[in-house]
Order: sequence, then structure tokens, then C-alpha cells
Amino acid sequence: MRKKSRIKGILNQEIWKREGKYSAPLPGAKILRGLEAGPLLDIGCGYGRLLEHLRNLGFSNLFGIDFVEKPLRKIDFAMVAVGRAEALPFRDEAFAGAFLVGILSSILEDEGRLRVFQEAFRVLKRGGRLFLSAFAVNKHYAEKYRKGLEEFGIYGVFRSSHGGVFRHTTEEELRDLFVRAGFKILRMKRMPFTTMHGNRAEGFVALGEKP
Ligand SMILES: C[S@@+](CC[C@H](N)C(=O)[O-])C[C@H]1O[C@@H](n2cnc3c(N)ncnc32)[C@H](O)[C@@H]1O
Repeated sequence: MRKKSRIKGILNQEIWKREGKYSAPLPGAKILRGLEAGPLLDIGCGYGRLLEHLRNLGFSNLFGIDFVEKPLRKIDFAMVAVGRAEALPFRDEAFAGAFLVGILSSILEDEGRLRVFQEAFRVLKRGGRLFLSAFAVNKHYAEKYRKGLEEFGIYGVFRSSHGGVFRHTTEEELRDLFVRAGFKILRMKRMPFTTMHGNRAEGFVALGEKP
């Protein structure tokens, strides 16, 4: 039986107040083709690593949202808002593209994870795209997952030695999240990732489209 109450309310917000060396892969110019007119929304934008990357590639009309206010203060070239990925404060079909980069691992509960995909779907225009980078359940973390399973009842949830509780994803779960929210999956690739503390891991880079 899942010990849901143990993960309910864990938000890791103290960790996100410190600026991390975030490392989840960012989309390259090729994958962003067709999104030039925007607007683009970075969900869980932190201090704006992806927004800066997009600006450097020539994109404008950029928006970011994060539930921690402090890192947002660094961003002066995009519209940013404090808010939850599970309840985006934007109207339906407002964006041509949305991004979930490195955020999924800090949303622990099944319902919250689905809600985030549903919200991204809601705010995208038809034909709009959702790009995602997310850490995968991988062999380097087997011992941490074993302890996490005992404590939280979900394989893939673990306590980081640097503080915080996180959840890695399986390909099956990721596909399910995209599809249940309504997306068509255009790409899904498993590849090597590095964690923000420089450890080896693996992750998924994926692209979905709102039909
Ligand atoms: C690992 S950082 C990645 C930041 C940025 N996407 C990047 O890759 O540079 C995760 C970010 O997601 C934000 N976050 C986590 N859960 C969130 C939620 N439920 N709603 C909004 N932001 C959230 C955190 O505050 C943090 O800034």
C-alpha cells in the first residue's frame, strides 16, 4: 500500500531558494523550430537558465513561472510570475510552447504530476508543443530507491543526501502522463544526464504536441 501521507506536502522549497547548478538538458534550436512567434512558457523556470537560452537563440515573448519567488528576481528580460505548475495562472490556449525542465522530479504525488501535464495542455494552443527533460529511474540510484520504497511506498522516490525528497520517472509513467493529459508524443529519448551535484544519472527528453 502506498504511504501517500508521507509525501503529501513535501515541496523542497527551501532547496529551490538556493541557486543550484541545474543540469537537465535544454532544447536545441532544431526542436524549437516553428515556435519563433511564441509566446513560450517555462514552467518551474528557477533563475531563468532556459529563458536565457531561449533569448540567446533569438526568441522573445517569453514567460516564466515558479513557486519560489527568490530566483525569479534575477530575470529581467521575460515576464515572470510566482505560482504553481499544478494551477497555472494563465488563460486557455495562450502559448505556442511550454517547457518542463528538471521540475517533474520535485512533484511527488501521482495526482500532482498529472495535473501539471493537464495544465500545460490547457494553456497551449492547438498544435502547441510541450518540451520536457526529466530524470529517469536509473541503476545508479537503486539503493536510494530501495530505502525510498520502504519510507514512501513508491519506487523512484528517494531522499537526496543534499536534502529534499525527489521522484524519478519511468518511461511508462512519462508516456502515460503525456497521453492522459491529451498530448501526442512526438519524441521520447532516454539519455545520460548529470545531476545538479555532478552525479551521473539518466533521463528522458521528450516532446509532446497538443493535437
Ligand atoms: C531543478 S530546478 C530547475 C529550474 C529550471 N527549470 C532549470 O532547469 O534551470 C526545479 C524548479 O522547479 C520549481 N518547482 C518545483 N515544483 C514546482 C511547482 N509545483 N510549481 C512551480 N514551480 C515548481 C522549483 O522552485 C525550481 O525552481
